[in-house]
Amino acid sequence: MARKYDIGEEMISQKQIFERAAEIGRTITDEFAGQEVVVIGILKGAVLWLSDLIKHIELDVHIDFMAVSSYGALTKSTGAVKILKDLDTSIEGKNVIIVEDIVDSGITLNYLKNYLLGMNPKVLKICTLLDKPAGRQIKMDADYIGFTVGDQFIVGYGLDYSEKYRNLPYITCLTSGS
Ligand code: IMP
Ligand code: MG
Repeated sequence: MARKYDIGEEMISQKQIFERAAEIGRTITDEFAGQEVVVIGILKGAVLWLSDLIKHIELDVHIDFMAVSSYGALTKSTGAVKILKDLDTSIEGKNVIIVEDIVDSGITLNYLKNYLLGMNPKVLKICTLLDKPAGRQIKMDADYIGFTVGDQFIVGYGLDYSEKYRNLPYITCLTSGS
């Protein structure tokens, strides 16, 4: 029988996330002043964070999405990355920002980064809502980090456990159920 989990107390509130999105949006606006940026959201987890972030980027913003699978219904990485949905448009010569929900082992972003660098963008940056350095199996540094979390399985605000909890308007973690 599958293990049962509950969710813990709120760890990061929606207000904190909104404020952080505004700060990072301003940083990106300053860094790319007068230029266009392509924001690539990684489905499905990054959708909520991306929608907060882009409202604070005061530049011409193009949005695209990719879907990859590196996890099944489990909380551990399988290490295998597969592209389920590729970009709709070319990023050659563009300023590109990958928007991800969480960097854990770093395997997904390492794969995506190399894949997208192969398309010759002008600049490639990574913006993640959460960074979980304790999970790292491969070196991966995001350029813009919302919050750093500990070695817990996080859910809410786009992050799921077996497709559940993505709609929670705050960030929390799984706890062992009774
Ligand atoms: P990585 O390849 O191990 O860095 O993991 C990247 C993906 O694994 C993320 O985009 C998430 O979908 C998923 N993931 C990793 N850690 C967590 C977590 O704590 N909660 C929910 N999903 C996670
Ligand atoms: Mg996921």
